[in-house]
Amino acid sequence: MFNLEFVVERETAIRQLQLQIEYGADIAIQDNPIDRFEESKRLAAKPKSSEAPQRASPASAAPAATSTTGPARSYPTKFLRPQRKAVIAANRLAGSAKTVEELREALEQFPHSRFREDARNMVFSDGSEDADVMIVGEAPGAREDELGKPFVGKSGQLLDNMFAEIGLSRFDDDLGPLYISNVVNWRPPGNMTPQQIDIDMFKPFIRRHIKLIAPRILVPLGNPACEAILGKSGITKLRGHWYEYDNISARPSYHPAYLLRRPDLKRESWQDLLAIKQRLREIGKDS
Ligand code: URA
Repeated sequence: MFNLEFVVERETAIRQLQLQIEYGADIAIQDNPIDRFEESKRLAAKPKSSEAPQRASPASAAPAATSTTGPARSYPTKFLRPQRKAVIAANRLAGSAKTVEELREALEQFPHSRFREDARNMVFSDGSEDADVMIVGEAPGAREDELGKPFVGKSGQLLDNMFAEIGLSRFDDDLGPLYISNVVNWRPPGNMTPQQIDIDMFKPFIRRHIKLIAPRILVPLGNPACEAILGKSGITKLRGHWYEYDNISARPSYHPAYLLRRPDLKRESWQDLLAIKQRLREIGKDS
């Protein structure tokens, strides 16, 4: 016999799941769901102690994630304490890499990033190591995590189209060469924005990466990349200008994921692309 109740329940569950996917919940972080409403009721009912210093629970110690698409992930406190040890290890590992391949291997050995345990693949780079232009993004998303390559999702398509317009491409085609990497090499769950602790520990790697590629022009896309490379953030003000980083010209610009949400800003982004093309022409590297 046909069990109508089961069919309705199943369809409701599928609808709810689809809704969660639309909201950006694309991985299961815990086997058992946490009822945050119950948790906040419980915390509100707890008597407040004004004297004793409170010990932060792992969940409350998590930095506010500026997640654009998914739920914040709670991390054990070991990942959230000052990351001195991690930064020292990152500097040592990155500094010892003499080639791009050695840098990739050094990163593979780096155990300290909180994002490693949820990620499927490390995402290192794509394109030609001989490129004059190196793009630095933020962190891999779901598709990049699946394929182990940067910028292969929707924002990557936009990025490829944008740079093709000024004659550059990461692919082995007729256009000039392009090299692409990210500040963070493992996908932050729910696409949360990497926080300062993450940027601090990945900074030695991306800076070494830039040194080894030695491009003529660097393009940091969005705030985490500007923070890691230029030590500044505030992309709206930073873009539109040239900066000097380790004798390399840097032209910050909007991240393509942001442009997908704010297509009205493509015009400004186009101005940055034209400035890059012009600079390549000036240094005799225009293809
Ligand atoms: N966004 C990034 O910053 N990097 C990627 O690789 C993909 C999306």
